[in-house]
Amino acid sequence: MNEHKVNIHTLRSMKQRGEKITALTAYDFFTTKIMDEVGVHLILVGDSVGMAVLGYANTLPVTMDEMVHHTKSVARAKPQALLVADMPFMSYSTVRAALENAGRLIQAGAEAVKLEGGEAIIEQVRALIAAGIPVLGHIGLLPQSILETGGYKIVGRTLQSAERVLRDAKALEQAGVFGIVIEGTIASVAEQVTKSVNVPTIGIGAGPNCDGQILVSNDMLGLFTWFTPKHVKRYANLAEEMRKAFAQYKREVESGKFPTVEHSFYEPGKN
Ligand code: KIV
Repeated sequence: MNEHKVNIHTLRSMKQRGEKITALTAYDFFTTKIMDEVGVHLILVGDSVGMAVLGYANTLPVTMDEMVHHTKSVARAKPQALLVADMPFMSYSTVRAALENAGRLIQAGAEAVKLEGGEAIIEQVRALIAAGIPVLGHIGLLPQSILETGGYKIVGRTLQSAERVLRDAKALEQAGVFGIVIEGTIASVAEQVTKSVNVPTIGIGAGPNCDGQILVSNDMLGLFTWFTPKHVKRYANLAEEMRKAFAQYKREVESGKFPTVEHSFYEPGKN
């Protein structure tokens, strides 16, 4: 047993000790390797792959086959971090579908799955946990529900909305989830949820008082530059670095500066 391997119990102990949990999304082998080197605790193969990598307008078109493909790529990096995969839109609309599709993600290398919703999907969550599949809840702003909610709307602004988030969190905790992502929620509501449940909360656009934080890696790396949501802090500007590298390569090929002798192969004794 690898003593540095993060599992669902590690995260719960971290909450008890008051240690912050760090989480990021990853969609491929190489990014996962680099991310894991710095000791991030949880890596999520998010359905944000739809926008971050596949060029979809939102997460709704993401399929199970696409999630399995990216989960396999991330899992090949054998991260020390806990590897969680998102269940995409409509893949858990019934208990049967949830079990079948979560099973596919676990067989692709995920160690847990994440589903969006609280009370509305509690039967699916219970069935998965009973089948031995750890579940990470996801409440607050639910990107898979934008057609119903009318867009990416911050949650918890009214008493009714705040109470619903709290009820969802409690229902998920009772069903046995090991943690809960709180997205796009008023900071004081996320703080209240965090204090009310014993499982760790991981916030994204939910203020500083959750037990941990998660960001979409492409956003924080500055790879997705066309739109930056308010909750994102850019830690790098990789799109600019890539633009510079591609442009320099083009200039050098066109001018004959690349390749040089250094990058070419010759018969023995000719260079
Ligand atoms: O798909 C995703 O990246 C997510 C995070 C925003 C939590 O669900």
